[in-house]
Amino acid sequence: RSMKVHGSIRVPGDKSITHRALLLASLAGGRSHIGGALTAFDARSSARVLRALGAKISPLVPDRLVVVEGKRRFARPDGVLDCGNSGTTTRLLLGLLAGHRFRATLTGDASLRRRPMRRVTLPLGLMGARFVQDPGRDGLPLTISGGSLHRLSYEQPVSSAQIKSCLLLAGVAAGVEVDVREPHGRSRDHTERMLRAFDFTVIDDNDGWVRLRPTGRLVPFDLQVPGDPSSAAFPIGAAVLAEGGELHLAGVGVNPTRIGFFAVLERMGAHIRQEVLGEEGGEPVADLLVRPAPLRATEVMATEIPGLIDEIPLLAVLAARAEGTTIFRQVGELRVKESDRLGLIAGDLRAVGVRAEVQGDDLFVTGSDRPPVGKVRTAGDHRLAMAFGVLGTVRGAKVSVDDRKCVGVSFPGFWEMLRKVGSR
Ligand code: S3P
Repeated sequence: RSMKVHGSIRVPGDKSITHRALLLASLAGGRSHIGGALTAFDARSSARVLRALGAKISPLVPDRLVVVEGKRRFARPDGVLDCGNSGTTTRLLLGLLAGHRFRATLTGDASLRRRPMRRVTLPLGLMGARFVQDPGRDGLPLTISGGSLHRLSYEQPVSSAQIKSCLLLAGVAAGVEVDVREPHGRSRDHTERMLRAFDFTVIDDNDGWVRLRPTGRLVPFDLQVPGDPSSAAFPIGAAVLAEGGELHLAGVGVNPTRIGFFAVLERMGAHIRQEVLGEEGGEPVADLLVRPAPLRATEVMATEIPGLIDEIPLLAVLAARAEGTTIFRQVGELRVKESDRLGLIAGDLRAVGVRAEVQGDDLFVTGSDRPPVGKVRTAGDHRLAMAFGVLGTVRGAKVSVDDRKCVGVSFPGFWEMLRKVGSR
């Protein structure tokens, strides 16, 4: 497998930006065009539920412009809205639905049905939305009845772009002011950037508050979606672990709230050269160049976590190849991702012979240069499959991943890409 890396690749469109573009275009009252959109399962989940709410959306196919014909308001859906595997679809949509005067029921696959929704239903409830859930358990299915909402000032218990975006979008759909604060570290700010482009006032206070004033109006737009830095992280990781060569990545989004892993890689001894291309739709975009590097352990602080939340599986497998013990502080949020990512990262690393443990909410990974050999369990979690796929490229590795297809959630063609960039 990949002893040397080479070539130039383009990763799929940004998942977070694609969801937001589809959601906002569906309420823009006219025809929008989205280029470079992610067409993977998660994006299709957003498109599917938005069609059920009255938007016309052209099929999501690679390399084809997505055309969205949105109305000013959603229509009452006929059936249950199936959000598939996508937490972002579910939570952001709940914000928009909170401003609509009808009932809608949301569900998803087995992974999504287990994920906590109280983190958004509680603050949306304070605004005046009502919810029905199965008694005694927090998850999906869930029925929302929205309508006219009150303004909200809310301190989030956890830093989460999904909570923040949900509440900002409720403010947009209902035309009310929303102030939200994240406890430590700033999560991705794509929603804020997009809303500003529609003349909403979104103020980023230094004390952690984000304040929305409903001064804007959604109108049809054309947007080019950059490559997803969270998808780029995997080939970047493979290139860092390789024994020679270099890898180019074209057109990757480098929003500062998304590339916390660049700084961590830098501390571990790897450098990612960025050639900034400019901005697309209010988001900075760059070409990247990565070379192999020997790695040393680092400590990833709690305040850094929101800026690299989706890259922890990848960073953990890199830590498994670094000298020393890497510590990830306060990563409890990983327990409520597409899987119990925290438990599975540690368990899977141990399964391939790496020392890894969870203490409280901290993750410890001790690197070694012994070849990783063993079977890993993904629980259908795309990012675990890809992270361990990357670990499987090192010399002598025999890592078997139980579910290789789940990469289709965010990165169709991942395995072909991984094979293509590496050679002996
Ligand atoms: C996302 C936010 C993050 C991230 C997810 C996408 C978003 O979730 O893990 O992949 O697009 O807002 P949290 O807000 O739950 O941390």
